[in-house]
Amino acid sequence: MRTRRWWTAGWVGGLGALALASLAAQPAGPVRIDVAVDRPGAPIASTMYGIFFEDINFGADGGIYAEKIKNRSFEFPDALMGWKRAMVEGARGSFAAATDAPPSPANPRYLRITSESGRFGVTNDGFRGIGIRQGEQYTVSLLARRRGDAPTSLVVEFEDARNQPQGGTTIAGLTTTWARYRATITATQTSGSRTRLRVLADGPGTVDVDMVSLFPADTWQGRENGLRKDLVQLLKDMKPGFLRFPGGCIVEGRFLDGRYQWKTTIGDPAERRLIVNRWNDEFANRATPDYYQSFGLGFYEYFLLSEDLGAEPLPIINCGMACQFNSGELAPLDAIDPYIQDALDLIEFANGPVTSPWGAKRAAMGHPAPFNLKLLGVGNEQWGPQYIERFALFEKVLGAKHPEITLIASADPNFRSDNFPWQWDRLRELKADVVDEHFYMPPEWFLTNVGRYDTYPRTGPKVFVGEYAAHLPGAGAQNVRPSTLGAALAEAVFMTGFERNADVVTMSAYAPLLAHVDAWQWTPNLIWFDNLRSFGTPSYYAQQLFGANRGERVVPIALNGSGTNGTAGLFASAALDAGGREVVVKLVNPGGAAREVALSLGGRSVTGQAAVTTLTGDAAAENTLAQPARVAPAVETIAVSGTTVRRALPAHSLTVLRIPLR
Ligand code: AHR
Repeated sequence: MRTRRWWTAGWVGGLGALALASLAAQPAGPVRIDVAVDRPGAPIASTMYGIFFEDINFGADGGIYAEKIKNRSFEFPDALMGWKRAMVEGARGSFAAATDAPPSPANPRYLRITSESGRFGVTNDGFRGIGIRQGEQYTVSLLARRRGDAPTSLVVEFEDARNQPQGGTTIAGLTTTWARYRATITATQTSGSRTRLRVLADGPGTVDVDMVSLFPADTWQGRENGLRKDLVQLLKDMKPGFLRFPGGCIVEGRFLDGRYQWKTTIGDPAERRLIVNRWNDEFANRATPDYYQSFGLGFYEYFLLSEDLGAEPLPIINCGMACQFNSGELAPLDAIDPYIQDALDLIEFANGPVTSPWGAKRAAMGHPAPFNLKLLGVGNEQWGPQYIERFALFEKVLGAKHPEITLIASADPNFRSDNFPWQWDRLRELKADVVDEHFYMPPEWFLTNVGRYDTYPRTGPKVFVGEYAAHLPGAGAQNVRPSTLGAALAEAVFMTGFERNADVVTMSAYAPLLAHVDAWQWTPNLIWFDNLRSFGTPSYYAQQLFGANRGERVVPIALNGSGTNGTAGLFASAALDAGGREVVVKLVNPGGAAREVALSLGGRSVTGQAAVTTLTGDAAAENTLAQPARVAPAVETIAVSGTTVRRALPAHSLTVLRIPLR
């Protein structure tokens, strides 16, 4: 196993040097931790810990969106990508994409299958295969019509690597006009990636098919067009305060015509306009030529997901700028109105009465009640005067028409550039509500910058740490940045800094969120999955522990009498919870030696049971599909009594204590 010693390297300079010095000067005995429960400070925003969602790494199509058929609508530029001739004995025929009299002008291409003899047709290889479980049910649906008198039915079945059927059904009653058909298939084997779905004309003749779709019957909440249950459950377990969607760079697009346009992502999934995914060819070494956005998971589904998670929806809208790491294409200022109108219409779609044009569309999709949108991001990672000019225009209109909506502005992602403070100053002048900062940095950066927000102004815009992750060097032929416990602890250290500055930092999210083990473009990520299984990284568990133990009001905490986070090599934050009946203390020991702590709660005597959750292990340990819980929190209950609570903090650990207050 690789051993990484980033934590020692990280102690050089700044707070690292200070902490090393204090470690060396440690008197024997436990580190004294004073939690001033009688001096509660700022409320901790319910949005403090949330989720960043982007369709990167097959996060949506091929990921949480439970559709198993790739290129179901034959609208990929290569119309037959994902589809091949099915190998069925005795079958002869041909197939091709066709466009005459399609089921809908919004979905102009479909597949024409002609059987000359036998059951002739095509197979779809899914998103890196199709995952099925023996005995489980799958819902197949498709649009079809026959061209002449025959065939009058289609055979739809799973096939294994040897082209042998593994459960199927017959769809009968085809007519010469397009109609939608649905059927259920029960899988007769379990397979993660070797299964395909085949669609066969049931005898000679010509048949047209489109929107060939396959979902597990058991989606999240049993919804049609639904989401993968295991992945949503992992998100739910994070107890997120908000869900940011749809990204990320896909908001911006490489050019403006590839930007995310929410209006094309709602309504009948068959009518949603497919576009290339921006991550399709972003990295030459991780090219993913079959990566497109079907928008089957569109804005309506994102709002529903937010509701299911109990998280505030946070859509990010394009502000008239394509990705500045790519073309940086700009919508001219005198042509920005349609972009602002998109934002206004989005607010109406989310919150408007069912009698309003966009509120009516929401109701028609099945949600007459408003989604109660309160947050809106204007642009993703934008910088420079062009952004400020555009943000100002959005702010002027949205601020006047929708003062109830909190607007989130982008800080320059190049946070060490000269533009960063300039942009912050302009956003202060514009009275932005919240400013979104991003950090993809080595673990030691997070340790040495734990005090970043201690010196931020206490008035003006709040901070959204909208994307961050500790990046270790890439390893192996694929240059994979590992997701170790050590990296997770560096992030946990940084999070104690958010909590201590809850009057400034009101939102945060790790990024990116999801990654398919066979189709990723970016590492590290919070959650990995294949076609059947999924697991959280150590960083996932750090996020989960902070999200589930957020607390309501921050309280001052001192380590060996010092308010400096990192004193004695430990990092900590504390909060009151449950209306003041509990105190939550988070302690991070990133070092390689166990530490004793003695907590005192402002002289109060406590008695009862405290819950202790610990995330610990080897600093280089990672979770995998085979060992999904190698690093996972352990929960125990301990009896507490008296004015001091003692605890041993293991090496490389995050510990959360929930102590009842009398
Ligand atoms: O999280 C991955 C990418 O990193 C996001 O799309 C973008 O906002 C950032 O550059």
